[in-house]
Amino acid sequence: MITIIGSGKVGGDAALFSALKKLDDQILLLDVAKGLPQGEAMDINHMLSEQGIDVEVKGSNDYEDIRGSNIVVVVAGSARKPGMTRMDLLKINASIVKSVTENIKKYADDSIIIPVSNPLDPMAYITQKVSGFDRSRVFGMGGMLDLSRFRQFIHEATGHSRDSIRGLVIGEHGENMLPLPRFSSVSGIPLSTFLPKEKLDEIVLNTKQVAAKVIELKGATVHAPGNAISAIIETVVRDRKQVIPVSTYLDGEYGHSDVTIGVPVVIGKNGVEKIIELDLNDEERQIFDKGVANVKDAISGIEI
Ligand code: LAC
Repeated sequence: MITIIGSGKVGGDAALFSALKKLDDQILLLDVAKGLPQGEAMDINHMLSEQGIDVEVKGSNDYEDIRGSNIVVVVAGSARKPGMTRMDLLKINASIVKSVTENIKKYADDSIIIPVSNPLDPMAYITQKVSGFDRSRVFGMGGMLDLSRFRQFIHEATGHSRDSIRGLVIGEHGENMLPLPRFSSVSGIPLSTFLPKEKLDEIVLNTKQVAAKVIELKGATVHAPGNAISAIIETVVRDRKQVIPVSTYLDGEYGHSDVTIGVPVVIGKNGVEKIIELDLNDEERQIFDKGVANVKDAISGIEI
């Protein structure tokens, strides 16, 4: 069973995309708000009926119901409002994610946990520490979402099919995000073959800033995060061994320890199977390390 804790717009979208992709026979939406997960589940089930898809979506307010979950997505907490940074949510969401993780440990202690709540990297760290799970079973969804935006900007700039565009975005899911043109391509052909450095720099900047722009225009980001969550779940349930960026706990990799940050990993049925260390150049390394320092600074102020 796939459980999604937090049944707001992103959680609901993640359930909807996961159901449409038939990633499990059962999907549970959990929330503290009475009626919200139940109503969301009913609405999705009505859609599934029309599509003839026999995935059952349930809604609950009771943690007992998460027993038997293989995967638990944590979207609970506040979302940022126009003008806020993700880090502005640190204090309010830290206590929520800590409490949620304690319940996951109690009722679904052999699950894989995918934190999504912001600020993502500190929330993934709290989840890792409070759950005490092997680090392979805790990885945050951030870079996958940033990558979807990076690919869109490359698609717009080159005019080539989205399907032929591959790339990487690592580091902090936040102000020190690290899109990597050097590790991106169109059908394996380096991006620099298609676009001049000025354009690549512009795409990198836009990738970092576009979430705030969407929030300013429509009040929240919904479909891109909801889809990115379902894409990560799919890599697990189909045991795809895909190489994707997730926020995971480092223990010496990239020269850092006791921190959770976006890095490329191999994901399969057991979660993170391998952390891939890239040969970053000086500029990339500086941004990566700045993100690590920012996340470490944030977690140093949290009581776990
Ligand atoms: C975003 C939020 C989910 O980037 O961090 O849309």
